[in-house]
Amino acid sequence: MMATMSGSGGYSGAVRCVAVAPAWHVPDLVEDARAGLLEPPRSLPPKYFYDAHGAALFDRICATPEYYPTRTEDTLLRQYGDEIIALTRPDCLIELGSGSSKKTKNLFDACERQGHFCVYAPFDICEPVLVEAAGKLQADYPWLNVRPLLGDYHAGLANMPHYPGARLFMFLGGTIGNFTPPEVRAFIGDIRRRMQRGDFLLLGADRIKDNDVLHAAYNDAQGITAEFNLNVLQVLNRELEADFRADKFAHLAVYNNELHRIEMYLVSGLRQEITLGRLDLRIQLARGEQILTELSYKFDHDELETLLEEFGLGVIRHFEPDNHYFSLVLAQSG
Ligand code: SAH
Ligand code: AVI
Repeated sequence: MMATMSGSGGYSGAVRCVAVAPAWHVPDLVEDARAGLLEPPRSLPPKYFYDAHGAALFDRICATPEYYPTRTEDTLLRQYGDEIIALTRPDCLIELGSGSSKKTKNLFDACERQGHFCVYAPFDICEPVLVEAAGKLQADYPWLNVRPLLGDYHAGLANMPHYPGARLFMFLGGTIGNFTPPEVRAFIGDIRRRMQRGDFLLLGADRIKDNDVLHAAYNDAQGITAEFNLNVLQVLNRELEADFRADKFAHLAVYNNELHRIEMYLVSGLRQEITLGRLDLRIQLARGEQILTELSYKFDHDELETLLEEFGLGVIRHFEPDNHYFSLVLAQSG
């Protein structure tokens, strides 16, 4: 069976999550820690940020004055929501990495205005956030048929339930920037393979811009991004029986001008030894040693269009604000 109803914790009122099985082996945190943490250069995949607390911190980042992507994309979706729904007329909206689904409400508002009723399949790895978002949407839009999908959107894409009719796939928030270039191509290719002729993809991507604006967005004055970054140490402590102390690490986020990406690290404040109980190991961190926790690539206008076209996705509309801070690209499979 490829998709099953999730058990305990998968219900919120009438909302049920469908657990989407991975189509290939997805390393767990023990395996990822073995692969990335044992020796320098140390790194962790960014998906471990999103435990319930991390997801709540991400929501708070989105509300900081410095973090422009959420506000910008929200404005684009509000401004162009009617046009997007009129062009795509989706029977099903499938959103990958949907999180709180807050910005997507602009599209449901547009559906309501146009009397267009559809299925919404939000697909996320963070169960509490998915269940809460689905419950709220179901209450706010009683006509909307919400079918939350719980799983890994890389390995789970091939095992998603089939939704008949016209589909609008969505990947918002600039999360595509958290993938390496080969991962981007693999992911767009996988989405394309799930699409039928005439289906649409709506892709949100952050743009290359002034270094200071980018730096501020990942170093907010209230320190919420720092808290979000440091929270991954609590995830490691809980899941790996580790003994990281957040006060012995510092948040570092720098813009790499050549590679057009924010690089986010946790920096060890001193020489220290960490126990990873579940791995039955201890690691030594030097003072100043870095653990890479996230990359966030920024894109060029034409680069995004070329990327989609490379996969047979014809760009229908490319929405952007006057300051060119963010792109929302609507493409259709030929
Ligand atoms: N699209 C939302 C949320 C972005 S945060 C927005 O624009 O605000 C990234 C989201 O992707 C989180 O909700 C996180 O739980 C989810 N995510 C990260 N890695 C994932 C994976 N491998 N599979 C499924 N969801 C994932
Ligand atoms: C989810 N993703 C697009 C965010 C980003 O901007 O790369 C995650 C984030 N990291 C720090 N702040 C926000």
